[in-house]
Amino acid sequence: MEILKIDKISVAYGNIRALSDVSMTVSEGDIVSLIGANGAGKSTLLNAIVGLVPLSDGTIAFDGETICQAKHQKLSTDQIVKRRIALVPEGRHVFADMTVEENLDMGAFMVRDQALIEKRKAEMYDFFPILGIRRKQKTRSLSGGEQQMMAIARALMSSPRLLLLDEPGLGLAPLVVQDIFNKIRIINEENKVTVFLVEQNAKLALKTSSYGYVIENGRIVLADKGENLLNNERVQKAYLGA
Ligand SMILES: Nc1ncnc2c1ncn2[C@@H]1O[C@H](COP(=O)(O)OP(=O)(O)OP(=O)(O)O)[C@@H](O)[C@H]1O
Ligand SMILES: [Mg+2]
Repeated sequence: MEILKIDKISVAYGNIRALSDVSMTVSEGDIVSLIGANGAGKSTLLNAIVGLVPLSDGTIAFDGETICQAKHQKLSTDQIVKRRIALVPEGRHVFADMTVEENLDMGAFMVRDQALIEKRKAEMYDFFPILGIRRKQKTRSLSGGEQQMMAIARALMSSPRLLLLDEPGLGLAPLVVQDIFNKIRIINEENKVTVFLVEQNAKLALKTSSYGYVIENGRIVLADKGENLLNNERVQKAYLGA
């Protein structure tokens, strides 16, 4: 079943058209990736899903409900997040002066039940042991990879059905990126969280995904199974350095 359906959306920043007539679907339980170069419109698409940028055309539906609509926006970002969609933004946006634990608490801002918050934090420390070790430390003292893990853990504190990841590998060493993608796979398989991620690291993203989309200049130019895109000549030339 489709959990996310993006239907012919366009987004503009003033005169700059960032997305043109973009349609795509994400099936429940899948990992789907969107690959594209700098400035192609990847972040704009993720931000549009959670209502952070308005649509000039088209609609976005989550679990059969229209959440975003051009001209007459349906829901606020808060309301969209309450539908259990969590975004890990590009560059992580961690609260650097807060401890790891305080950051995780922020991720649970919608959860009223304190016992449930404690239980989820314990699960996160179990899943990312380094966060447990560092839980009383200020976030700025963490490495880039640890901060990315924390940003993912913070998003998971809201128990999302759909996890949106904006370049989880950005600026990190290859082994760290591998580690993060392994975690993403486990989150998807064991916690049944649907994942939609955007990446410039096309190889790892497509290997991890069942389905992928390629975006160029705000338009979807290719859509296929991850393994087929990995073998696609155009993708290899433009994104895999082949
Ligand atoms: N707030 C903004 N105001 C004006 N133009 C913007 C804004 N944000 C993005 N753009 C422009 O919209 C286009 C798409 O940007 P976007 O950030 O979505 O691309 P991206 O694929 O995420 O790129 P990157 O790989 O660098 O993160 C680019 O031309 C960018 O310059
Ligand atoms: Mg971006």
